Amino acid sequence: MPQVKFFYGDSVPLEMHKVRVVQKLNLRTVEERLQAMSEAGSNTFLLKNKDVFLDMLTDSGVNAMSDKQVAAMMEADDSYAGSSTFTKLEEKVQELFGKKYYLPAHQGRACENIIARSFVSQGSIVPMNYHFTTTKSHIVLNGGSVVEVIPTEALEVNSENPFKGNLDLNQLEQLINEHGPEQIPFVRIEAGTNLIGGQPVSLANIKDTYKLCQKYGIMLVFDASLLADNLYFIKVREAEYKDADIRSITKEIADHTDIIYFSARKLGCARGGGICTNDVDAYNKMRELIPLFEGFLTYGGMSVREMEAMVVGLEETMDFNMVNQGPEFIAYMVGELQKRGVPVITPAGGLGCHLNAMEFVKHIPQEQYPAGALAAAIYIASGIRGMERGTLSEDRKSDGSEKLADMELVRLAMPRRVFTLSQVNYAIDRITWVYENRHLIEGLTFEDEPKILRFFLGKLKPVSDWQEQLTAKFKADFGDSL
Ligand SMILES: Cc1ncc(COP(=O)(O)O)c(C=O)c1O
Repeated sequence: MPQVKFFYGDSVPLEMHKVRVVQKLNLRTVEERLQAMSEAGSNTFLLKNKDVFLDMLTDSGVNAMSDKQVAAMMEADDSYAGSSTFTKLEEKVQELFGKKYYLPAHQGRACENIIARSFVSQGSIVPMNYHFTTTKSHIVLNGGSVVEVIPTEALEVNSENPFKGNLDLNQLEQLINEHGPEQIPFVRIEAGTNLIGGQPVSLANIKDTYKLCQKYGIMLVFDASLLADNLYFIKVREAEYKDADIRSITKEIADHTDIIYFSARKLGCARGGGICTNDVDAYNKMRELIPLFEGFLTYGGMSVREMEAMVVGLEETMDFNMVNQGPEFIAYMVGELQKRGVPVITPAGGLGCHLNAMEFVKHIPQEQYPAGALAAAIYIASGIRGMERGTLSEDRKSDGSEKLADMELVRLAMPRRVFTLSQVNYAIDRITWVYENRHLIEGLTFEDEPKILRFFLGKLKPVSDWQEQLTAKFKADFGDSL
């Protein structure tokens, strides 16, 4: 994409693939969308996909597969034990990450369960660049706690820093000195920090963190779920690696970690996951739990078809023209929204376009879930499903009070190779309309609130009839248009 110059006007992201299988979409009327949102308890997770036009909830398990991935699925070796499909996958992981031992798991959080059960105990502290929802829950369930060791800039909405996902080494060393290395089972680095706008971590920072961990004999665990975007950012934003190929950047990252785990719902455009390491003791400890929670060691809860697709998907991730598609579409969307004055997280990161709800609907208090309310408003106005990433995505503190999130974001994920640029332009148009009418949006309150990971299944209701009013304004402005 970046190599192609346009003769007229600004350049736009150019797809280096063509679409050969399509899926029909529905765009409901605004009244139907209002009804669907109400039935879903104002929680976009609870919408039915038949009522969704552009599903920007997540990139998890919904990235487009290549023709070669689909073809590979037909060749799978379906056996419980000793499947040759598993051997292929094991060899691909060994080749790309240079790690001898691979443990299969059915998705990213399953890896987190295995890692947390193996290494976290009562009183453990796990420092990291930023937590992910399921990561934190597994650590807390095992008696540990998460400490974010990040520079203040990581949480600044707008910044010039190309690597807002970097871990703060001074804070990390202070924390180690304060608590002692024995209390820290591992340090975790998350590629492409999910909850703070898909912001990448630099390879230099990974290397420095690894060095510090080695000094104190602490393992470095690397969550590679969002590695594809992060690889792109290392290549285009980190001067030292501008001429390096994606494969060698991947290997260099891996060489500076002790354990890597990933959700293959993201990395490799399939559905699965896994953990790899060169540490035989760590491997043996984790291995015991795989048959208990995942399945036998040669499938780990995954279908062999998905495993075949993963082998091809991981290999295809080594292609710059594959990993650049998401970040460049996202940069386009972020840039266009910025031009229209819509508050977005900058610099553009990976995973999706992140709207800054704290600014977008600044009149809504955090206790009324501004990002959740904004996600509901966007669905009503457009049929686009985004995801709240703010206070709603945090569980309450043990005393029952709200844990107010550092950031209130609506994430509009960009599943790789799924949407066309005209669909992205539609999203930009409708979000701009919502921004112009933001004064109509009000907050949400819980009707049914689960204790753990409440954002998945919780039901809420609007604090007033604001959703009806937004619908009426849409009708007034757009008439019969969908
Ligand atoms: C950074 C990160 N880690 C872990 C996970 C969990 O992966 P999964 O959804 O496959 O359980 C996710 C999922 O979104 C993620 O983004």
